[in-house]
Order: sequence, then C-alpha cells, then structure tokens
Amino acid sequence: MATKKSEHKTIKIFDTTLRDGEQSPGASMTISEKLRIASQLVKLKVDVIEAGFPIASEGDFEAVKKIAQTIKGPEIAGLCRSSFKDIDRAWEALQYAGDRGRIHTFIATSDIHMKYKLKMSPKEVLESAVKAVKRAKSYTPNVEFSCEDAVRTEIKFLAEIVGAVIDAGATVVNIPDTVGYTIPFEYFNIIKYLKDNVANVENATISVHCHNDLGLSVANSIAAVQAGAGQVECTINGIGERAGNCSLEEFVMAIKTRPDILPFKTNVASEHLTPASRLLTTVTGIVVQPNKAIVGANAFAHEAGIHQHGMLMDKTTYEIMTPESVGLKSSSLVLGKHSGRHAFKKRLEELGYDLDDEKLNQAFERFKALADLKKEVFDEDLDALVADEIMRA
Ligand code: KIV
Ligand code: ZN
Repeated sequence: MATKKSEHKTIKIFDTTLRDGEQSPGASMTISEKLRIASQLVKLKVDVIEAGFPIASEGDFEAVKKIAQTIKGPEIAGLCRSSFKDIDRAWEALQYAGDRGRIHTFIATSDIHMKYKLKMSPKEVLESAVKAVKRAKSYTPNVEFSCEDAVRTEIKFLAEIVGAVIDAGATVVNIPDTVGYTIPFEYFNIIKYLKDNVANVENATISVHCHNDLGLSVANSIAAVQAGAGQVECTINGIGERAGNCSLEEFVMAIKTRPDILPFKTNVASEHLTPASRLLTTVTGIVVQPNKAIVGANAFAHEAGIHQHGMLMDKTTYEIMTPESVGLKSSSLVLGKHSGRHAFKKRLEELGYDLDDEKLNQAFERFKALADLKKEVFDEDLDALVADEIMRA
C-alpha cells in the first residue's frame, strides 16, 4: 500500500566523494579542487561531507581543515583508523567545524581481515574499537564507527561490536559492504538482524556503505534502508575504490521516483545533480559512461522511432523522471537509423524548415540512407540535406 509523503522517513546522505571517491585510481584532488566539490555538495544539500583521511597526507589534512573552516551547512567528517594517533590528527583538522565535525573511525571485523590484515583476535578488535570510540568521544559527541568488511563478518560478533561501540558513545554505526559482495536480500537480513538483536541499537543511526563490485551497490543500499538503515554513504558518479561506491544520484533519484513503494525521502536538491556530476568529471578527468543512469549523456536521449513518437505525444511514455528534476534543460531526440518520420519532421520544424509532404517524404528517404552510414545525424547534416532537396526542385 502506498504511504503518505508526510510519513516518509528522511534518509541522511553521507557523501564520501572526497574520501572514498578520491581513492579511485586517478581521482586525487588538490585542496582547491576539493573545496570546489565541497561547495557543490552544499548546493546539493547533502547531510554529511566526508572530506578526507587527515592522517593519510599533509595535503589531505590541510584539505579537511580548510573544508572544516570554510564550508557551512553539512556536517564535515574525517576518516581515521582506530588508533589514537589517527583520531587525534583527525580532530586537529575537524575541530574548526565545531559541533558539525564528525570523527569517523573504523576497524575491520571479518575473520579474513582480522587474521590476515590486522593479525588481531576478535577480542582485541572489539577492545580497540571501544577505545577508539571513547577517544573520539573525548573530542566531540559526533562519532561514527565503521565495521570494515561487515558483510563478511560473523553476524553474532558483528552484533556484539555494534552494541559495544554504541555503549561507548558512537552515534552512527556503519555496516559497510567493503568488497561489494552482498546482494539485496542478504544485506536486508543483516541490517534487520542488527535492528532486532542489538539491545541499544535505537541509540544510534545505522549507516550503510556499499561498494559496487557486482554492480549492486544502489540496490543493496535501498534494501538496507528498507530494513531500517538511516544513513546512506555514496559518491557523485559512483566513483570510489575499484568498481566504486553507491552512486549518490542513482540512490537519490530512486527514492524520489518511487515514493509509492519506498517510504523515504532525502534532503538532496536533485536539480544540482547534473552540475555536480559534470564538475567532478572536470576536476578528476574521469568520464561518465554515456548510458550511466541519471547523469550519463544518453540518460534522457531517445533514438528509436517508436520511442520518439511516444515522447512527442507525452513524455511520460518513456521518461520516469523529468530531465529538469536532475538539472538538465530538456531531453533529446537523437536522429539515427531507428528514428521515425515524426521526430524527423519535428526537428526540421525546429530548424525552421516547412516542407510540403512530397519534399518531406523525399528528404526522409535520404535521411534514412544517410543514417545507415552514420552513428548520428546532426543538424548540420539536415541543413545540407534540405538545401540539396530544395535545389533539386
Ligand atoms: O569500504 C569501507 O569499508 C570503507 C570504510 C572505511 C568505511 O570505506
Ligand atoms: Zn569504502
């Protein structure tokens, strides 16, 4: 049954373009580039900006500090491992954001990571997590803890550590799918299990952070909010480690487009999505695939004649959201070999041509012949084609 919009729960958007996104090969940003992206994130009205990993380098420390000093509106988070040195350094940068500063500390909790990477026992990991949260808490009430590789963590241990860090004062607990391994049904069950079995779970927001190794990060994030998660971590254009993170624009527009079935909303001003995507491409040089949902060049382009005809009759035939809602001026009818007479005629009219039926038919035949030779027929091609047709008369 559809729910009333006023009953929709607000899901917080935690943008990690400047931290996990920056971990994409080739996405490294200077301080001023990070500031440009952060200003765009303010326009988008994300709830939290993860500005970087302050202990990672001097440059990242300065970037987080500058963002904490100058960016107003969203909370500003900085990542740190569960070591006092990391946490102290993170707060040194974040303190300028005052009560909007969030320390985000993490440690891996899966057997694989504890054994091979950390070489620590579960007991040691749990103690380290609790100590880290307490240390962070000595600086700010705003503390997020992440159980790295949560999806491959033994579920009872995961529940134990979530309960322990909440007791220690974590106000947000993140359950990442670090390696993009889960599927929606499984992830739903993990979040639901924690919601049902961790006694103090209501004292914190459960966050999710999905990687895209199987192309499921958005679907998994949606399943997680259906199970009770209250924050989604994501990036512009879905950039991030390996195959990337949950794409912010895809998650936000899924929520916005299906309020009938998803009783959630976000604070994101979606008309700033396309400018954000383009700015990130400009800054990083990482291009967006044309068929990428929401912000790809073809996301609102229609080529087939049947689709174009439908679009000319009523846009809702082939568009489930408006181009304006994501910051585009309009959708486009691309002229190619699958295009039909309706779209062809419309484009000629837009270009100022008014051909009688016979000329239109002839021009259309020539257009089809040309379209068989080219990937796309441009306005200049149409100008030449019509001029030629008129000369023949
Ligand atoms: O993918 C991951 O687990 C992370 C954490 C550090 C949150 O990026
Ligand atoms: Zn990650």
